[in-house]
Amino acid sequence: MTIELVPSILSANFARLADEAKAALDGGGTVLHLDVMDGHFVPNITIGPPVVAWLRKALPNAVFDCHLMIENPDNYIPSFAEAGANWISVHQEACVHLHRSLQLIESHGCKPAVVINPGTPVHMLDEVLDMVHHVLVMSVNPGFGAQKFIPGSLNKIKTLAEVRESLGLSFRIEVDGGVALDTVGDIVHAGAELLVAGNAVFGHGDIRENTKKLLAAARAASARHA
Ligand code: DX5
Ligand code: ZN
Repeated sequence: MTIELVPSILSANFARLADEAKAALDGGGTVLHLDVMDGHFVPNITIGPPVVAWLRKALPNAVFDCHLMIENPDNYIPSFAEAGANWISVHQEACVHLHRSLQLIESHGCKPAVVINPGTPVHMLDEVLDMVHHVLVMSVNPGFGAQKFIPGSLNKIKTLAEVRESLGLSFRIEVDGGVALDTVGDIVHAGAELLVAGNAVFGHGDIRENTKKLLAAARAASARHA
């Protein structure tokens, strides 16, 4: 299992976005997580395609993981792909035609992924698991950074890992919300490998150092588990 740290810019200083994102990538982050919120699906508003496009110019080689917390995502998938997204994830709860949305992402040259909220059971994804690059398990209710990790998410990660094994599939398992030094060990043991972290990376202190420490803790937990 390849552990990757995926810094979420939600807790970054948006007036220094590219510099702070670079610091997190310098510290060992391998994918940049871009949280897109519309004030409808979640009670907060963040960025749209123009910000992604400017970040793409600043970071031409970074992998961008666009987490769409929006209603009617099909209307915006082409614009995010055009702006430079590499991975695009949509919420199961926001998609009336989830299968079609995942196909749309793929048709625009991006890796499709699906997200489930804390209140959504894993089995809601049964019919699309063979289509996705990764499944994102929300371990907080989406909308805000720096919330407390919901422990029940660990069972969902374990269930997903078991289902993947039993079906012989290869999607990756990502977790988002409350990933920090005190939770990352259990998260890695449960089977998550793409670790999104906002507050723990950008919230306070040195971004590069925070990233390094969190990644080292995740790798150490993974090695202990191997
Ligand atoms: C929350 C976002 C997360 C957020 C996680 O709705 O999807 O990506 O940045 O933040 P932390 O790591 O601070 O819990
Ligand atoms: Zn997110």
